[in-house]
Amino acid sequence: MPGTWMLGIETSCDETSAAVVRDGSYVASNVVASQIAIHRQYGGVVPEVASRQHLEKITYVVEKAINDAGLGFHDLDGVAVTVGPGLIGALLVGVAAAKAYSYALKRPLVPIHHLEAHLYANFLAHPELTPPLVCLVVSGGHTSLIFLKNHLEYEILGATRDDAAGEAFDKIARVLGLPYPGGPALEELARQGDPQAVHFPRAWLGKNSLEFSFSGLKTAVLNYLKSNSEEENKHLLPDVAASFQAAVVEVLVEKTILAAKLGGVRDVCLAGGVAANSTLRELFKQKAGQEGLKFYFPEKKLCTDNAAMVACAGYYHYLAGDFASLNQEACANYPLIVSKS
Ligand code: KG4
Ligand code: ZN
Repeated sequence: MPGTWMLGIETSCDETSAAVVRDGSYVASNVVASQIAIHRQYGGVVPEVASRQHLEKITYVVEKAINDAGLGFHDLDGVAVTVGPGLIGALLVGVAAAKAYSYALKRPLVPIHHLEAHLYANFLAHPELTPPLVCLVVSGGHTSLIFLKNHLEYEILGATRDDAAGEAFDKIARVLGLPYPGGPALEELARQGDPQAVHFPRAWLGKNSLEFSFSGLKTAVLNYLKSNSEEENKHLLPDVAASFQAAVVEVLVEKTILAAKLGGVRDVCLAGGVAANSTLRELFKQKAGQEGLKFYFPEKKLCTDNAAMVACAGYYHYLAGDFASLNQEACANYPLIVSKS
């Protein structure tokens, strides 16, 4: 088979996923076995349950990814896997599986950081995209502004001081009585509300700050709900959801644009589960367009956890010869290697 074919494996949280991607751009298959229905009954991800589910599904998911791609195992050139950050038990399943495939097939094992995988989803969606660029990675565990200087050369421009944006969505959704995962449910409720009904605070954290904070906003929403009767709140929930969402989205968009301006960069991207939010995508498009910036975001199914993005990042590491030994470990707090300059 001409081209470089990477198998990607992703098990950092509650999606068991495997994908086959050619040359970091063509997604031949992307299988995602979601555990949402299982964790919903507990109101959030139960780590031990997630690990067991990954274990049950991983072999089937990988085989399906190979079949869907119309390939045999020996057509693969490398095995890329998320080694962290994430839930340690969940990561271990993917890393152990990747090591087994790498050993059995005699193909290199390529370790991937979860955030870089999210960022690289933009290259799947837009093969014409080239660094330098600024990417806002917004997920359940992270809110980070990353400067991609060249391929695989990262600089963290800013991150959250407390909750990640997705975490804030999930926590407020829970307070509003919405099911897990909170982000999509809150977005749905917000459609029926007025984003200007309640003015919740925006944490700018000083002029030109590229850091984020969502804990004050969370407290403001809780205080607002406490100041009303239960009966009043029943009618106000869509407005609260829309106003909360507007506060989060405004800060995310403004700081991403500021980061691009300060860095003199023309291309800006979104990535991570929260990047599936339509209000965020719309405002980002509008504001970036007004500022003369070129904006990119992956299609929604490539924003939330999936293995195609892992295989895509894996392709660039494969070209760079960044291979791991079979001693590679899963790492819950895996740091993103940032460039020196
Ligand atoms: O990237 P992801 O799938 O997993 C992590 O790496 O954390 O992101 C999951 C997060 C959750 O917090 C979820 O509520 C949020 O992304 N999310 C959304 C939407 N879809 C997923 N938040 C807001 N609006 C959405 N449409
Ligand atoms: Zn993620």
